[in-house]
Amino acid sequence: LLKVTEFISANDLAALLDVSVNQIISTCMSLGMFVSINQRLDAEAITIIADEFGYDVEFTKSIEDEIVEEVEDDPEDLIERAPIVTIMGHVDHGKTSLLDYIRTSKVTADEAGGITQHIGAYDVMTKTGHKIAFLDTPGHEAFTAMRARGAKITDVAIIVIAADDSIMPQTKEAINHAQVAGVPMIFAINKIDKPNANPNKIKEELANMNLLIEEWGGKYQSQELSAKTGEGVDDLLEKVLLEAEVLELKANPDKNAVGTVIEASLDKGRGYVTTIMVQSGTLKIGDITLAGKHYGRVKAMFDHKGKKLKTAGPSTPVQLLGLSGAPQAGDIIKVYDTEREAREIANSREQIQREQSLRTKKHITLDEIGRRL
Ligand code: GTP
Ligand code: MG
Repeated sequence: LLKVTEFISANDLAALLDVSVNQIISTCMSLGMFVSINQRLDAEAITIIADEFGYDVEFTKSIEDEIVEEVEDDPEDLIERAPIVTIMGHVDHGKTSLLDYIRTSKVTADEAGGITQHIGAYDVMTKTGHKIAFLDTPGHEAFTAMRARGAKITDVAIIVIAADDSIMPQTKEAINHAQVAGVPMIFAINKIDKPNANPNKIKEELANMNLLIEEWGGKYQSQELSAKTGEGVDDLLEKVLLEAEVLELKANPDKNAVGTVIEASLDKGRGYVTTIMVQSGTLKIGDITLAGKHYGRVKAMFDHKGKKLKTAGPSTPVQLLGLSGAPQAGDIIKVYDTEREAREIANSREQIQREQSLRTKKHITLDEIGRRL
């Protein structure tokens, strides 16, 4: 068994396997991979090479992971934070309508009149005075991509099911995603204002999937509602808060911010605009941030109404300006004390990526040559 970190160089791998680097290189060559002495190898390549030399591989933490890893917080520094909720469900079952209703009816009056901008993430204040952060229908793909990258950003999933329809393939997918991610679900049985709505049918279908709702003696919370009339929406939000209470969500606001990228784009006037969810710590104007291979000082921050913010604490979605490029959804964003530190990590990520794409290119070339012969 070989314990190794991902992205070690061919040279270092040779040392670990106790073979010469030339043996590694020629082995790779025979497998159709061209590697150079200092080239970093990804997990797949390492596994293949090690196998050639009779080793099984176990991947341990890389320096990169160590850098990204959170320092344990002192329990005394932790304070309650708002839940982060993702709304999922089948096409047209009413995800956007539900969020629209929640946003327009729950946003405090003093914020009204601001220019609403789509930032993919929102936070609202419930009538009972609690904050909830919502992720706007990131779509299953984005949710999966984030999960694949190890980003755990959702605390509670709302699964929207239209009461005039059935449990559909994407409903099942959404349920599956939430279950695999270990995120508690609340079923929102929507469109009960419709004459042909049949909420009981939905509950039965859930029961048939082994998902028994509380009302029927099971453990899953559910709420009948109408995203159109708003009936039941307040009750749904209270159930979200109840679920959150059980989870005892806490974060330390008094440290450098750590968050997750929700989306990023290039705005002609403003430069790169990145929507993030701050998960712990507090992000401030002027902070040196790094996400993926892009870094920079936070120039400005806005909430989902376009209102300028000076700081953003845990469970706060913000749009920020100042990164040198557009990171990917699911990338972790962190604050560093020095620009040098951020630049070094950005550069090393850049290098890894360049080496990988270079190798992929060579792969294709070799393949093409093979086909021509
Ligand atoms: P996708 O984003 O396409 O997956 O759909 P969605 O789940 O976001 O559904 P959306 O909110 O766009 O709603 C689909 C349609 O259902 C729209 O025409 C809504 O007006 C309608 N709708 C949503 N909720 C309700 C409801 O509670 N009652 C009624 N009568 N119509 C609703
Ligand atoms: Mg929608």
